[in-house]
Amino acid sequence: MKKVFNEISPDKILVTGGAGFIGSNFVHWVVDRHPETHITVLDALTYAGKRENLSGISADRLRFVHGDICDEGLLDELVPDVDAIVHFAAESHNDNSIADPAPFVRTNVMGTFCLLEAARKHRKRFHHISTDEVYGDLALDDPHRFTEETPYRPSSPYSSSKAASDMLVRAWCRTYGVEATISNCSNNYGPRQHVEKFIPRQITNLLCGNRPKLYGDGLNVRDWIHVDDHSSAVWTILTKGRIGETYLIGADGERSNRDVVRAILGAFGESEDDFEWVRDRPGHDRRYAIDSSKLQNELGWRPCYTDFSRGLQETIEWYKTNKDWWFADKDGVEARYNSMGQ
Ligand code: NAD
Ligand code: DAU
Repeated sequence: MKKVFNEISPDKILVTGGAGFIGSNFVHWVVDRHPETHITVLDALTYAGKRENLSGISADRLRFVHGDICDEGLLDELVPDVDAIVHFAAESHNDNSIADPAPFVRTNVMGTFCLLEAARKHRKRFHHISTDEVYGDLALDDPHRFTEETPYRPSSPYSSSKAASDMLVRAWCRTYGVEATISNCSNNYGPRQHVEKFIPRQITNLLCGNRPKLYGDGLNVRDWIHVDDHSSAVWTILTKGRIGETYLIGADGERSNRDVVRAILGAFGESEDDFEWVRDRPGHDRRYAIDSSKLQNELGWRPCYTDFSRGLQETIEWYKTNKDWWFADKDGVEARYNSMGQ
């Protein structure tokens, strides 16, 4: 690993969860832009991970290891050989965490603990991927947005397990001197997102001839960011971020769920009111909103996807042309939602 002033250039990184949505987009992003970096992906290939998400990357750039982040013996084999760990692996879906929280505590809390112990033992740089949901929610008319100083107030089993993992990272950094950074990002969209998530669910509903489904009153707000902008932010923090710091990642993309559904219906040429109301999520967070000034001012990061409708259109095209990628998952996901009245 080279170090110039405060900037590092890692030759070898371990990416956990690299076969999932954001992890695989990050791996492709790095492969395309940083030919000096070799990547080892460690992924358990749960329902959310697909080996094919990494297809097309040559073996001299990527090593894929099928395994669990809770496997300490495996971490002892892999971690000594890399410069840095970029930790995406998680159980990531709120509705699943409400139905069955146990895997969230295991992977998100215990898994992060195991990785931190490996980073401590082998003295490796550690970047932890987290979520804006650790800050709870905002009222629709609140003039404030989340900053790095906002107190933690998670609502769901998923967000509380991510909050717990953030606390472990902070403690390992302060007490043991692990060289760690944390990023908390808002809602991502883009290619290869599982059909259980909001935007892919509505796109694939329409592609299957079904109506989009809105929870509650549909006025909940999410702060959308294209997954490539998340990747560039993570790389910026990994290579230039100050050790021990947290950086919020967001791209000023606040939109109500109803507006997003209307935009998707509009892109399909359908009436913008042709959706269904379904049962609300218990404990449903009202609004997320990120102030990313620290990342922008301190590290000079800027998002590229400032036009949501362009990013959404590209995402719709991706699901249209990659039906084989999502079709096998669709019926099972909808059966599970139907059983919950959603
Ligand atoms: P995802 O569910 O699409 O992918 C998770 C990946 O982790 C999968 O490939 C899965 O196989 C793997 N995994 C799960 N348990 C594992 C284990 N025990 N060992 C090894 N691998 C395991 O998730 P995502 O949406 O890509 O999210 C990635 C990360 O980004 C998560 O940490 C999530 O909390 C965070 N995040 C997500 C968003 C978002 O909008 N999706 C926003 C902010 C932060
Ligand atoms: O904010 C970052 C978080 O964003 C990440 O940490 C999570 O991993 C990621 O899943 C996402 O969490 P959300 O719960 O916000 O995302 P989801 O796609 O599940 O839902 C987005 C919004 O859409 C939310 O208000 C619930 C609503 N929704 C969801 C589905 C699946 C609907 O109205 N209808 C639906 O069918």
